[in-house]
This record gives sequence, C-alpha cells and structure tokens, in this order.
Amino acid sequence: MLRGNRANQLQEGRLLVIDDEDSALEALEKMLRRGGYTFLALQNDSSTAVDTFRQFRPDLVLLDLHMPGMDGFQVMEALQGLVPEGEYVPFVVLTGDLDPEIRARALSSGAKDFLAKPYEYNEVLLRIRNLLETRMLHQQLREHNDLLEEKVRERTKDLEETRTELLRHLAMAAEYRDDVTGRHAERVGVLSALLARRLGLSEEVVRLIRYAAPLHDVGKIGIPDSILMKSGPLSKAEFEVMKSHTHIGARILAGGRFPLLELAGEIALTHHERWDGKGYTGMAGERIPLVGRIVAVADVFDSLSHERPYKPACDLEEAMGIIEGGRGSHFDPRVVDAFVDLVEEGDLVQLRALEELEARYGKTGRVRSESTQLLAPVS
Ligand SMILES: [Fe+2]
Ligand SMILES: [Fe+2]
Repeated sequence: MLRGNRANQLQEGRLLVIDDEDSALEALEKMLRRGGYTFLALQNDSSTAVDTFRQFRPDLVLLDLHMPGMDGFQVMEALQGLVPEGEYVPFVVLTGDLDPEIRARALSSGAKDFLAKPYEYNEVLLRIRNLLETRMLHQQLREHNDLLEEKVRERTKDLEETRTELLRHLAMAAEYRDDVTGRHAERVGVLSALLARRLGLSEEVVRLIRYAAPLHDVGKIGIPDSILMKSGPLSKAEFEVMKSHTHIGARILAGGRFPLLELAGEIALTHHERWDGKGYTGMAGERIPLVGRIVAVADVFDSLSHERPYKPACDLEEAMGIIEGGRGSHFDPRVVDAFVDLVEEGDLVQLRALEELEARYGKTGRVRSESTQLLAPVS
C-alpha cells in the first residue's frame, strides 16, 4: 500500500491521453477522474500531440496506436524526441490489439506498458500509479545526484582555495625576513599574471602563474640571515650561497602532483636566468621557460620599485628605465614589450591599487577578493 502522502503526490501527476475515438477517450477520462487524477490533457487529434506535449509537459503519456494521420508509433517517436535528456516520461499504449508482433514493436519503440481496451478500472489505475511512481523515483534520484554533484563541486573549490591559500602563506614565510608583509611575493604573482595575459597565454595558464609566481623565492628559506640581510655587497662565496635559493626552491617544490606546483618549481629554478645567458646557470633565450622570463621581469621591477631593509625604492620612471635598458640583454624583448604596454595602458595602476588596499586593510579576505577582481579579464 502506498502511504497517504505519496499517493496524493502521484495523483497530481499530469496525464496526456491521445486517442482518436471519443468514446474511448471519455471512458478513460471518467476512470482517471474517479481515481483522483485532475491534471489531464485529452486529445483526439494526433497531429496536435506535439504542441500539447510541449505546453502541458506531462508526467505520463497514454497513446492509442491506430489513429488516422500520425499513428501511435509516429506520435511516440515525435514525443520521445521532446523528452529532455536524462528525464523519464513513460508511454503507455492503449490497444484492443493483442497481436504479439504489434506489442513487440510498441515495446521496442519505447512503450513502457499496455492498457487493453475495453479498460478495466483497477488495472488502469494500478498500471498508471506504478509508472508514475517510477517516474517520481527517477526524478528523486536525479535531484539527489544533482545535489551530490553540487557538493563535490563545492568541496573541489574549497580544496583548491585551501591549496592556493597554503601556497600563499608558504611564499610569505619564504620572504618573511626581508619583507614581513609578503606583499612582494603577491605583487610578483599579480604582475606576472598580467604579463602572461598580455603575452596571449590561456586564462588557465594565467591563473596558474598568478598563484605559482609568488613562490619564486621560496628557496630563500635555506639562505642564512647573514647573507640574505646583508646591507653591503656580497662576497663571491656569499653570492654563490645566495644563488642556491633557486635550486633550494625547486627542490622544495619538486615532486608535487599538481600543475601549479610543477610550474612554481620551474619558476623558482629559472627566475634569475638572463636572456643573454649571463644569469645564474647560463641558460639563454627561449631555452629559459617563458614563465621564468616573465617572472624575471616582474621580480626585478617589483624589487626595484619597493624599499627593502637594505635598499631604498626607485621611482617608477627609474625602474622602468632599468627594465627597458635590459631589453634583449637581461630580459626577453617580448616580455619587456608586454610590460611597457601594461604600464602605458594603465594596468600597472591596478597593481598600485592592490598595494594601497593591502596597506589599508591588511591581508583580509576582502583584499583577496578585490585582488581577484584586479585579475578579471582585461578585455
Ligand atoms: Fe630570487
Ligand atoms: Fe623576488
């Protein structure tokens, strides 16, 4: 026995009946109304079935096979084409015909059940109820699946946010000794992403660079204070130790399973290479990964234009002059051109805005969301 609620819900099912014989249509209508069904669409003309189906959106279709014009098989085919993907709308064939061949054809055309004419009241109601119940369970399952998918999507997003958040803190930890705020790392991330977009890289890669570039100096964790914080020039031996931060960084980030970490490792290793081959390892030109060439410009520009405990800040013009002066020697000419475009078109103002926001609000969620906005597609 069906419990009250569900029986009531089933009676709210919308039934479309198509039969050219008015007397058969009336007999069925009477039974259905007596059985508690009120949402009925009755059609004696098969040529209007498609329109009615579209407007009425039935939960179940009862269909005569022998009709003038479009017969039951044709109607069934046309209506089934209107059932949205993943939905279950059962079709019941009304027939006086017990010919096994016709039944087999109807079943293979998608009919879910038969009602033999003349109709028998109890049988009509039971078969309809069973099919409506199947449809209802199908819908519940689908809703449940949609809900699960939504939850998985939310969890995935959470995980991704946690991951980028942890990486951001790792970058801050690495820069803590000479930049307590960690803003340098963050700014290099944003500027590198803007450069990558300007160079026509895909939005997916732009996003990866945005979160990988702040880790460029993560290897500084392994450099002693006496060298990292030294205010005067480094001795040759000290400089060698300083240079090792690229390898230390690459080792820290190595072996990660995510493209983001892989890219961060590549950046850590190559951000001190020079276009002319006079960088840390002598790698030159396009042999240096593009991300390394991009971060090289972003890193040098940001270090120049901001104060550190051991050096004052250059003004924008001076910093720009140094970057442009390094075009084709220190830096990839294409990246310098992209950088100049950014400055000329005012995108660098966005970076300044980010900085001001951070200075005002600190590293709050609000700033993070605004910094994300700064990275919204420029076009
Ligand atoms: Fe570095
Ligand atoms: Fe840096």
